[in-house]
Amino acid sequence: ETFKIAVIPGDGIGPEVIDEGIKVLNKAAELDGSFSFDYTYFPWGCEFYNEHGKMMDDDGMETLKQFDAIYLGAVGYPGVPDHISLRELLIRIRKEFDQYVNLRPIKLLKGAPQTLKKDHTIDMLVVRENSEGEYSGSGERLFQGKPEEVVLQTGVFSRKGTERIIRYAFEEAKKTGKSVTSISKGNALNYSMVFWDEVFEEVSRDYPEVDTYSYLVDAASMFFVLDPGRFEVVVTSNLFGDIVTDIGAGIAGGLGLAAGANINPTREYPSMFEPVHGSAPDIAGKKIANPLAAIWSASQMLDFFGQEQWGARVLTAMEDVLQDGSTLTPDMNGNASTDQVGQAVTDALDKK
Ligand code: NAI
Ligand code: MG
Repeated sequence: ETFKIAVIPGDGIGPEVIDEGIKVLNKAAELDGSFSFDYTYFPWGCEFYNEHGKMMDDDGMETLKQFDAIYLGAVGYPGVPDHISLRELLIRIRKEFDQYVNLRPIKLLKGAPQTLKKDHTIDMLVVRENSEGEYSGSGERLFQGKPEEVVLQTGVFSRKGTERIIRYAFEEAKKTGKSVTSISKGNALNYSMVFWDEVFEEVSRDYPEVDTYSYLVDAASMFFVLDPGRFEVVVTSNLFGDIVTDIGAGIAGGLGLAAGANINPTREYPSMFEPVHGSAPDIAGKKIANPLAAIWSASQMLDFFGQEQWGARVLTAMEDVLQDGSTLTPDMNGNASTDQVGQAVTDALDKK
């Protein structure tokens, strides 16, 4: 079986970290022998924009449809406004390919830098709504510049959109025997979050075997820091998910380790795998970017293709490198280069 991957290395450290993820994917394929990857590279990003006045080719979205997945580094570079670089490439792909699930594992790997004072088991999967909610983009600006100026930003929660994300979380929990925690704010957001809580309650009835919890987002944020061990599968809205997953990145090793996947579960269109961090212009070209986040995203891609044993083995290989500690990038207090870390993970995978 061959998986067709569209690779968009993007800007800054994007290409540097993506190279290492691909090394690891190729090693997994080579060791397994029953699957392989076929990569096609697309030079889209800010350099492309400076040359052509657009972030991707006109038929770019049509072209991407032919792939099984997209592997993206990062986009954004000084000189090109972020709302153009992000909205016209990344957010466009997420939206038009209906990648309505943003899956962010918040797991403190063995050997990862411990940011919390106490030893906690941190092993959760945040399922963030990725297509509507507070980020629907709808709203209005009235009486601009006048004393009576009013700005409205509308949160859009459709039944379809709310139900499918909650159901996705329950399916994930059922598969792994874990609990589901909903994060909402029904006490203050009297339309959207009351509705969210109702749908959560409804869907939970279809999964009597799954334990459920419900937190207000403010309390949940506190417990992410004080007692993260209580969360397993977490489901939440677009805005709340954006925020709590950054707290998650903070407690589980930092940006150098944070991975994310944008999933279209129907598989009608490709899903997209990308590290959470950006293009890091401050360190681009120095060969010191930490490739572990991109490698973790590659592990999520292996899971998505049904190669869960390889997804897990890549994480174990990353843990070996973290625990050994001698081959880490400067952000983790090491002095290794990006490709040395990628090679170390590849070698660790080989030894398993
Ligand atoms: P950033 O994530 O690029 O960098 C923040 C800080 O973390 C910097 O000091 C950087 O050096 C460090 N850092 C990030 N990733 C690292 C890695 N793998 N290894 C070592 N250090 C790392 O965020 P920033 O600076 O706010 O944004 C820079 C550009 O990236 C902007 O144009 C922004 O729009 C874009 N961006 C793109 C994203 C994407 O493509 N998904 C996500 C976030 C930002
Ligand atoms: Mg964010």
